[in-house]
Amino acid sequence: MIITVDGPAASGKGTLARRLAKHYGLPHLDTGLLYRGVGYLMLEGNCALDDVATAARIAQELDVSKLDNDALRSDRVGEAASQVAAIPGVRVALLKLQQDFARQPGGAVLDGRDTGTVIAPNADVKLFVTATPEERARRRHIELAARRTPVEYCEVVSDIKKRDERDSGRAIAPLKPAPDAVLLDTTGLDIEAAFRAAIEIVEAPRAGRTRP
Ligand code: C5P
Repeated sequence: MIITVDGPAASGKGTLARRLAKHYGLPHLDTGLLYRGVGYLMLEGNCALDDVATAARIAQELDVSKLDNDALRSDRVGEAASQVAAIPGVRVALLKLQQDFARQPGGAVLDGRDTGTVIAPNADVKLFVTATPEERARRRHIELAARRTPVEYCEVVSDIKKRDERDSGRAIAPLKPAPDAVLLDTTGLDIEAAFRAAIEIVEAPRAGRTRP
């Protein structure tokens, strides 16, 4: 079974994808980490984020075993990831790796933009997880405070809206649900309730029900 999970920044898609993978015993790929890896190396190398040739080369040479790094989780790296992710050469360089992951025997769970449209268009279940920008900012604000990097709440809201705009407006792999994706709005749901709702969506066809 292949499950794809997409949605805007801080929607909780990563947490849900990990929970689903664990529940069904499937391998999980956070595709955002690949773009974060490229963004991080561009920043580290003091490269301009619109240097398309360097970004594409870094993407081709990306060592996925080195992505388990907390530094990749920062908002600064998220911003850089969002910029390099709009470069066609970067997306092409990361395509095969993601497709191979999706096609492993038994299936997989992949989260991130275009996983349900480009990477695994034949996925069995496609979730589009969303929440209002204010709710997503509230969660991100708590997360940042826990990591001892306090930022003003209004700044987090504004960053989230800016990222939504860039991710939705770009020509290549814009942020939008696959036509056959099921929308899961987690505003007002805690992680347990969101997880139960996701399971309902995955199980619906097996139980002979149409997905909500
Ligand atoms: O999901 P995450 O915040 O880690 O992703 C960082 C950025 O990488 C996103 O804002 C998006 O621009 C980009 N991305 C993408 N395609 C994916 C995953 C992430 O364009 N499959």
